Amino acid sequence: MSDFIAAAAEKFTKLVEEQLKRVERMKQDKDFIQYDKLDKIIIGIVGGDGIGPAITNEAHRILEFLLKDEVQKGRIEFKVIDGLTIERRAEVMKAIPDDVLEELKKCHVILKGPTTTPRAGDPWPNIESANVAMRKELDLFANVRPVKVPELGIDWTFFRENTEGAYALGSKGFHINEDIALDFPVTTTEGTERIARAAFDYAVKNNKKRVTIVTKANVVKTTDGKFLNICQEIAKEYPGIEVDDWYIDIMTAKLVDEKRRTQFQVFILPNLYGDILTDEAAEFQGGVGTAGSANIGKRYAMFEAIHGSAPRMVQEGRAKYADPSSIIRAAAMLLSHIGYGDRAKKLEEALDICMFKERKLVVTGRDTGATGAEFADYVMDTIKSLD
Ligand code: IPM
Ligand code: MG
Repeated sequence: MSDFIAAAAEKFTKLVEEQLKRVERMKQDKDFIQYDKLDKIIIGIVGGDGIGPAITNEAHRILEFLLKDEVQKGRIEFKVIDGLTIERRAEVMKAIPDDVLEELKKCHVILKGPTTTPRAGDPWPNIESANVAMRKELDLFANVRPVKVPELGIDWTFFRENTEGAYALGSKGFHINEDIALDFPVTTTEGTERIARAAFDYAVKNNKKRVTIVTKANVVKTTDGKFLNICQEIAKEYPGIEVDDWYIDIMTAKLVDEKRRTQFQVFILPNLYGDILTDEAAEFQGGVGTAGSANIGKRYAMFEAIHGSAPRMVQEGRAKYADPSSIIRAAAMLLSHIGYGDRAKKLEEALDICMFKERKLVVTGRDTGATGAEFADYVMDTIKSLD
């Protein structure tokens, strides 16, 4: 065997060993944390990079406002965690610095601003994305992304598998020799069953009638094939729900088909297709800047905006004009996740009034519009007027 084949085989063996260990960990992790049984819930606030600290701060203010009594009673504690910046990550050459990870693990739920994801050619070292690393480290396997456009009849909830697929070893592929590079998508039984169950349970709880599985199982036969099979098996446990499956290419087309798209309700997708389709879906709602995203695991959960860190806005001195609505949506998802559904609803309602119905202030990203702080004040005033 040539040297490079032997070297590749050795690297591959290591990857398989790591994945087997991960499967064992998943098998041990049976139950979801129950927030109502906790005396105190710790909410971590992580600013991130670029416009992250500015917009996260606004969402934090709103959470403090909505949870004032709980904070006073000691039921809720906020923990501001610094240091998840690209500068720090580059300095220690880690996707998440050890001290930051330690702090994150002291929390129950986390609200996170966008973090810069380096890529080849950037001034930063090409380290793994902090998002992806956090999802893996805290085993946040379900990426839940709702998209709603009532006037178009759109009401979708995406369940994107968040720890496997093309992302599991996304920074661990390798060049076999000068001519060949290989990446390795991963599908596991445990990992697929849990995302499928999360989607079907959600459908049942929220009175949804249909769940749509999206893969490319006709071509990516092994990993996508396994994903599809397992989702279909789990579907049998939910006889009241209609199930269909689509390939990702035609699915991206059907989202723009005005007649067809209103029939979809809940989607289950492997990681990469979920990444792509949720950006397309968010566009109908007003762009990725308007959508929130929940990353749910059994022990931890993290809530974030789905857009990037917009470093240019900061360079041009426009950070304070950045639109905080996506991370405020994420904050509403956080509230509802830890058992404050009433307050989450109020916040959602206020956001709808401020963003679509009343629009007394508009955030444009420039000094032609309101600042993020003014917008957050507007949201809080609107909440007060709902009481
Ligand atoms: C998202 C983002 C991330 C992803 C990036 C920043 C790594 O696009 O949350 O959808 O690809 O998952
Ligand atoms: Mg994305």
